Amino acid sequence: MSSFEKYLKVKKDFIDRNLKRYFSKRGNYSEKLYEAMYYSISAGGKRLRPIIFLSVTEELAERSMIKKLLPAALSIEMIHTYSLIHDDLPSMDNDDLRRGKLTLHKKYDETVAILAGDALFSYAVEVFLQTGVDERYLVQGLRYLIKAAGMDGMVVGQFVDTKSQLFKQDEKTLKFIHTKKTAELIKVSFALPAILLGCDKKKIKEIEKLGLHSGLLFQIVDDILDYTTPSQILGKTAGKDEKQNKLTYVSFYGLEKAKKFAKEESKKALKLTKKIGFKKGNVESIIELFLTRIN
Ligand code: IPE
Ligand code: IPE
Ligand code: MG
Ligand code: MG
Ligand code: MG
Repeated sequence: MSSFEKYLKVKKDFIDRNLKRYFSKRGNYSEKLYEAMYYSISAGGKRLRPIIFLSVTEELAERSMIKKLLPAALSIEMIHTYSLIHDDLPSMDNDDLRRGKLTLHKKYDETVAILAGDALFSYAVEVFLQTGVDERYLVQGLRYLIKAAGMDGMVVGQFVDTKSQLFKQDEKTLKFIHTKKTAELIKVSFALPAILLGCDKKKIKEIEKLGLHSGLLFQIVDDILDYTTPSQILGKTAGKDEKQNKLTYVSFYGLEKAKKFAKEESKKALKLTKKIGFKKGNVESIIELFLTRIN
């Protein structure tokens, strides 16, 4: 195992352990709902968003801040997981497999999946508010997170993705979908620590730019993997984008050009890490992983 692989594992275990703490048993009526939420939360996600958050935090602040900012990192993972539960619903992408397990609506039913997604979103806000920073930064951070998740962020991305027939099928729409449905929340994973730590505007803007390029890279590679990689490796159904006529980098540009775009985005992101002055190497390694990952 390389030292970066070890780093990822330590971070992932740390996140898994801490997420679990937020899903201990509740009263009779909510127990089943909690169980459903935790089924998806604990199903084996890569935890890349909170890992980014923690890696950026380590670049910007001393170690003691990790514990204080951790609730914010976990809240991003909760919002991400809610977005996956809803993404898989029959009225969205209609998927049976997620994180190597049955999707939540298959394991339980659609009602449970819709409500568990709703509950994960509001719980994410509740958890976020436990972040240990000055109220001024807490409000600023929460506004930033919610905006990226909502109607000008992930949700509108999902809207255009699933209703793409309502829009012109062109380069601009494609970039809009990918930026909104995926890059927005990845942008938050990079830039939220800077906001919570009270960094200056210029720094926040640069980190935000890094996040957007990395996020676009992430979704282009997601499109490529959907086309090239079998379900057992992906932990989700392969070849779905083509079947469902999705507007993706592969369907629009072809596989080779999509790979070129991914490479370009990774170069832009890596250049920005230098400009920003990240020194530990983990953020760079995460960007390289975004390009070379197999699931
Ligand atoms: C999948 O995200 C959905 C996209 C935004 C492309 P991940 O590939 O990070 O999924 P998990 O969290 O590891 O399951
Ligand atoms: C999902 O995009 C983005 C989300 C906001 C959940 P996809 O529909 O391509 O994600 P997968 O491939 O199902 O993970
Ligand atoms: Mg989708
Ligand atoms: Mg999907
Ligand atoms: Mg996909």
